[in-house]
Amino acid sequence: MSDFVRVCDVAEVPDPGKTLVDVDGEMVALFHVDGAWHAIDDVCTHDGGPLADGELRNHTISCPRHGARFDIRTGAALTMPAIRPTRSHDVKAEGGGVWVRLRAAAGVGGPTSGAVPAAPVAATPASSPADAGAPSVAAVTPATDLPLCEDSIREILKEVKDPELFVNIVDLGLIYGVTIGPSADEPGKQHVAVDMTMTSPACPAGPQLIADTKRAVGRRPDVAAVEVRIVMDPPWTPDRMTEAARDQLGIF
Ligand code: FES
Repeated sequence: MSDFVRVCDVAEVPDPGKTLVDVDGEMVALFHVDGAWHAIDDVCTHDGGPLADGELRNHTISCPRHGARFDIRTGAALTMPAIRPTRSHDVKAEGGGVWVRLRAAAGVGGPTSGAVPAAPVAATPASSPADAGAPSVAAVTPATDLPLCEDSIREILKEVKDPELFVNIVDLGLIYGVTIGPSADEPGKQHVAVDMTMTSPACPAGPQLIADTKRAVGRRPDVAAVEVRIVMDPPWTPDRMTEAARDQLGIF
């Protein structure tokens, strides 16, 4: 474990207040709230957002990029789209200065490695043991009995789940639109275009969600081809989730 490093004067950070400090070359968000000091990595575990730039409210900091909130005392992820804790560090105020000691990375034995990732993860296990490690498309028959329309496509897309959150992409609010038209290549069949967004531009689950969407919709015998168009404007925000998704993720 590293030693404490003096990062600033006590007087430099008001209460409540925050600042960004450099500790042995690592950028750390430092907080002063209710007379106590806290420090966490300046890295949102969703997609690397700069937490020190976020809004501080009591003991939570909101990521300025997509709104995930973290507990500044533990680094725990409190809301989507972040589901993993960010690392927290030891802090002390001494001799007029503030000192930070870096902890080990979360998950490798550091004090924060036991922090529970946001309630959502435990609350939303795979729907059956067979789901564990399985592709995110459930092995069920597509809604082929329904007439081909946007609603029936959305029903099918509920089979496609975010591999980290285990919530389907419709309830997550990732589907912006569905367009259906005659196929130019296969007369009598339809071309389906799905406008989909991601929770962030660099969403690591993106390729899988696109592939699973094509596979799920493509099961319909009346669909000739499925096109997935990624739309980042307007950007996804947590308020696009349905009540069902919020319940599933434990967000109130
Ligand atoms: S990068 Fe922080 S919520 Fe997306």
